[in-house]
Amino acid sequence: MIKNPKRYTVTAALIYANGPIHIGHLAGCYLPADVYVRYLRAKGKDVAFISGTDEHGVPITIKAKKEGITPQAVVDKYYGIIKQSFEEFGISFDKYSRTSNKVHHETSQEFFTNLNDKGYFDEVVTEQYFDEEANQFLADRYIVGECPVCQNPNAYGDQCESCGSSLSPTELVNPRSTLSGAKPVLKETKNWYLPLDRLQPKIEEYVNSHPEWKSNVSGQCQSWLKQGLQPRAMTRDLDWGVKVPVEGADGKVLYVWFDAPIGYISMTKEWAAENGKNWEDYWKKEDTKLVHFIGKDNIVFHCIIFPAMLMSHGEYVLADNVPANEFMNLEGDKISTSRNWAVWLHEYLQEFPDKQDVLRYALLANAPENKDNDFTWKDFQTKNNSELVGIFGNFVNRTVVLTQKYYDGLVPERGELHDIDKETLATLADLPCKVSDALKNYKFRDALAAMMEIARLGNKYLADTEPWKVIKVDEERVKTIMNIATQITGTLSIVCESFIPFTAAKLYEQLSLENWNLKGETAHPEWRDAGNADLIPAGTVVKTGNLLFEKIEDSTIEQQVNKLQEAKRMNELEGKAIEPLKDTIQFDDFMKLDIRIGTILEAEAVKKSKKLLKFLIEDGMEKRTILSGIAEYFTPEEMIGKQVTFIANLAPRKMMGVESEGMILMAEDKDGSLALLKPHKDVWNGASVS
Ligand code: MF3
Ligand code: ZN
Repeated sequence: MIKNPKRYTVTAALIYANGPIHIGHLAGCYLPADVYVRYLRAKGKDVAFISGTDEHGVPITIKAKKEGITPQAVVDKYYGIIKQSFEEFGISFDKYSRTSNKVHHETSQEFFTNLNDKGYFDEVVTEQYFDEEANQFLADRYIVGECPVCQNPNAYGDQCESCGSSLSPTELVNPRSTLSGAKPVLKETKNWYLPLDRLQPKIEEYVNSHPEWKSNVSGQCQSWLKQGLQPRAMTRDLDWGVKVPVEGADGKVLYVWFDAPIGYISMTKEWAAENGKNWEDYWKKEDTKLVHFIGKDNIVFHCIIFPAMLMSHGEYVLADNVPANEFMNLEGDKISTSRNWAVWLHEYLQEFPDKQDVLRYALLANAPENKDNDFTWKDFQTKNNSELVGIFGNFVNRTVVLTQKYYDGLVPERGELHDIDKETLATLADLPCKVSDALKNYKFRDALAAMMEIARLGNKYLADTEPWKVIKVDEERVKTIMNIATQITGTLSIVCESFIPFTAAKLYEQLSLENWNLKGETAHPEWRDAGNADLIPAGTVVKTGNLLFEKIEDSTIEQQVNKLQEAKRMNELEGKAIEPLKDTIQFDDFMKLDIRIGTILEAEAVKKSKKLLKFLIEDGMEKRTILSGIAEYFTPEEMIGKQVTFIANLAPRKMMGVESEGMILMAEDKDGSLALLKPHKDVWNGASVS
């Protein structure tokens, strides 16, 4: 672990620009990163917070194919959506860029050339699947076939989503190309491999020099190392990506996991150029602390492969830490873009304008730091109503309102201190350190809880000292109490900024802190001012403001839950397949069926049955009784008088004590609802259908 770094380079994963951001991304990576960076800035540290979109790789081309547009159109669309929603949500990147930029193509090509010139790659010819109809090599994701493990007929070339086995394309039984449906053929091709096997000792040394990494992170690293690292191709036969800068490598691009992490570097270059900095300081100086925030599916790339690339290059610092989170689930189910089971950030921002901090708070309080965790709307409501409104908002509001009421909003002078005052101020001085210690160790939930302890301290202090009662008997004493309550509010405003910055900004404004700090050197209060008993001098104007938080009603929560259920239902419908055809029958088989038309004369529900309706049908002969399990879709009343199609020679069957003499025919719609089959004009009862 690096001691006393001079500067920080903090990165957050470059998400694929093939879809919008959801709460899982926020909780897993972007929010913790933002909290950490805001904290560093409040400590006056030199930080570059870098992220952007990953615009290459098969996920982009698959999306393009699905939407029938070009890969470029896909990344242009999502880069815009993603960047804007991060901005509105207060994720305070110093640079949010994209890997399609020229500087990125150049930087990653230079990097590749550097390793290639040193002879660090092995050029290896292998046989890869090739689609002769589409005339291209097939990425693993473009090949489907039967899983050799579980026989799922639609396993992908890299993984079976049914049983979870990781596969290689040649293991699939009866492989086919998703581009053309053709049977792919094996064809020789040359690619450039990074010899991770030979680099293993150095990587092991690096990983083992970081016993402080989170256990989920070192656990994954150790398991990769134990299996033994394998050489990995850093080039691919694809046409979308950064061209391989070697002669004779036409039709090949850099492996997306080669170019994407170099994006952190190329984006730092862009930022440095725009801000008069030297990018190399942030990547090459030993006193730079490099931290990668990612989700758990990115661990191997950031802890093993990217470091192996950087080591091979030789001029770069390696990550000091890679605080990866586990996954956030939603209402008990895995978040899934394809199933539309997600809370999308851009939609949240539209539906809850000005409630960024509520989501930030709820996600951080439940951040999946050590194990997968679950987001529920109910819990979101509770976090807001009980904690933000009930504890934080309540304390600040009482302090501001009483200061208005007793002192026209001017912070009163403190008098002699009682024991409770001294104890409270001592605790106040300690709490920011508690938050700090947790943040330094990437324990964001603990840090958030420690921040809330400041608000709890304030509430307890007011409850114990009861200024609203004391004011009647000892006005001097109340001045001391309200002064101290204001100091607590001030510290709270500074400490909460990392977590809920929109609230902090409102508080700075209310407490006249926005253009002022204790040492007068910067425009904002800084971390070193937190816990100070004289943070807000007597005489400072405290403004009333709108309430910081407001209660969220049950109906709002129900709406969100319903919206999710509806999205899931729509999705299931979309995915619903036409039933496969039954086995062929002979004409004679068909002729055995006697299908007739009749009119419903009477209809009633069958007692004790939820499903059955009982009909009396005019069939042109003797009238007959037919039972039908359609009570969930039709009322008896609406059926009376309708002509229906029924099977007339089905052997009678007893249900719920009633004998049914036939079966009414129905068509089932996509959503499971039923439609009657009736002749397109009225025909005589008893007409036979053939
Ligand atoms: N695009 C990857 C994903 O969305 C993350 C890439 S992170 C970087 O999972 F290292 F490549 F930048
Ligand atoms: Zn399988």
